[in-house]
Amino acid sequence: CGIVGYIGYRDAFPIVIKGLQRLEYRGYDSAGIALYDGNQINLAKTKGKVEDLKNKAKSISQEGSIGIGHTRWATHGVPNDVNSHPHYSNSGELVIIHNGIIENYESIKQELTKRGYIFQSDTDTEVLVNLIEEVQKTEGVKLGKAVQIALNQVVGAYAIAVFDQKKPDEIVVAKLGSPLAIGIGEGEFFIASDASPFIEFTNNAVYLEDEEMAIIRLGKEIKLRKIKDDSVAYPNLLELQMNLEEIEKGGYDHFMLKEIYEQPRAIKDTYRGRLLADQGLIRMAGIDLNMEKFLNANRIIIVACGTSWHAGLVAEYIFEDLARIPVEVEYASEFRYRNPVITDKDVLIAISQSGETADTLAAIKLAKEKGAFVFGVCNVVGSSIARETDAGAYTHAGPEIGVASTKAFTTQITVLTLIALKLAKAKGVFSESKYHEYLTELENIPNKVEKSLQSNALIEIIADVYKDSTNCLYLGRGYNFPVALEGALKLKEISYIHAEGYPAAEMKHGPIALIDEHMPVFVIATKKGHYEKVVSNIQEIKSRKGKIIAIVTEGDEQVRDLADHVIEVPETLESLTPLLTTIPLQLLSYHIAVMRGCNVDQPRNLAKSVTVE
Ligand code: G6P
Repeated sequence: CGIVGYIGYRDAFPIVIKGLQRLEYRGYDSAGIALYDGNQINLAKTKGKVEDLKNKAKSISQEGSIGIGHTRWATHGVPNDVNSHPHYSNSGELVIIHNGIIENYESIKQELTKRGYIFQSDTDTEVLVNLIEEVQKTEGVKLGKAVQIALNQVVGAYAIAVFDQKKPDEIVVAKLGSPLAIGIGEGEFFIASDASPFIEFTNNAVYLEDEEMAIIRLGKEIKLRKIKDDSVAYPNLLELQMNLEEIEKGGYDHFMLKEIYEQPRAIKDTYRGRLLADQGLIRMAGIDLNMEKFLNANRIIIVACGTSWHAGLVAEYIFEDLARIPVEVEYASEFRYRNPVITDKDVLIAISQSGETADTLAAIKLAKEKGAFVFGVCNVVGSSIARETDAGAYTHAGPEIGVASTKAFTTQITVLTLIALKLAKAKGVFSESKYHEYLTELENIPNKVEKSLQSNALIEIIADVYKDSTNCLYLGRGYNFPVALEGALKLKEISYIHAEGYPAAEMKHGPIALIDEHMPVFVIATKKGHYEKVVSNIQEIKSRKGKIIAIVTEGDEQVRDLADHVIEVPETLESLTPLLTTIPLQLLSYHIAVMRGCNVDQPRNLAKSVTVE
């Protein structure tokens, strides 16, 4: 979910609405807004998108310079008008917005019900706001104190903003697990799940740490407190570097397409200042300062979810192949619950675009407890994972807004390649010339990505042929096996076509049974890396009349003769091929989804940043 709040001198309505639109990537099942017009709270909420909320809000007064808003990704209770946020307390005096989950809400709800509270919705959030109200009543305390006492009774994760009509000059916010940023302007404050809703108003922000709360009061400095013991916490004031252009579509129809096309620039930004090919140097402070930890590690464990997990799989090949360090790649959600064997000789690398994924964050905490050294690869600067890790490297891809991850994937691979090369050099497993070859070739990658993007028109034609498929298979070997997984994920998440990725050789152990003339098979068959073996796999598909769409190296003849369609990418070193082969697969999913009339940037049921477990 995404939360937004404003307290100041401007009209809150447009700020909150626009802010919610920027946060829709965090969930878009339903949306709501509450405004205080000086006399009373006016509230509108609805199932659907922020656009639907704008319509719904025509029926309420849009006045007031205090407001909070919410865009939801449902956890407790189906997406409907009643379950949407904000939620009122029983007296109607408090309103709350909440991102997260209150795990013990059932027992609190029972207790409150006994005391006469009535609940309109199925949400855990409505329980929380009434608990705050109950504390206010029984303890006779002000809002801030009541929030604090109530939060000490709940188990779970939250970023909340609460407004009390009896104290209309303040908003109380608190955070545990879910992110919360406060933008500080002159005579005004902004609250949001990330800084994008307020970037055009101020560059000054404070990110709350876990278990911190703040009373945001007009005309006063914000005061931070620890929720547990009420001690004073000191805000860490950050100057934001994001700019407005980065979070707007800039002429493209969709964020996803813009982000696909940004990849040459994004990859360059990732290695800028780090990769000094002419000096034979890779500069990465987070690695340099901790080189011993990496070199003495028994193994590297990579944890991540979704597309970031696929980048982790590519990294496994890179680290083992180039740096000769054993690597295991784990879904964060599995790793954390299976009592893993971790020691202080392990290095854990957590990969996360958002830096907020709850399972990844929990995996990091577990590994740290067990003494492992934890390194983060995140895109969002200042995110929870970036702060929780012992050291890290940002991808510098710029904001990624399309829910389907694209430039985050290629920039994660870029960072992980730089790390592997650095370790390979330090371990002395690479000859100087091989090392130089890699550095130079990595510098060429943005141009080669640019070239790969030139197949767009051809890919559109191919997309048109296969847009009505019900199933698709993606095959790749070695470095390109994770690319096959990623290709399949991209297609299913935005076009709702069932797709599976497989190591090409595994096809004969099951998926081959599915192949007939209706089954499109996307095969990554670049020249390096078991090319001949992949060609044999293509023959096997052809014998069963499957449709073959192959990603090949420029100038390839052999596969061209066999395949129904070929898409070329420039030649590069084997370990760098994923950075190129993934591009046509991204474009293909994009065009198929557009042709099927799907909402590319906001596919159903998904959210970009999953801050619940
Ligand atoms: C969600 C997103 C995916 C993303 C995954 C992990 O499922 O929809 O695109 O890959 O979370 O997110 P992270 O921010 O940790 O990379």
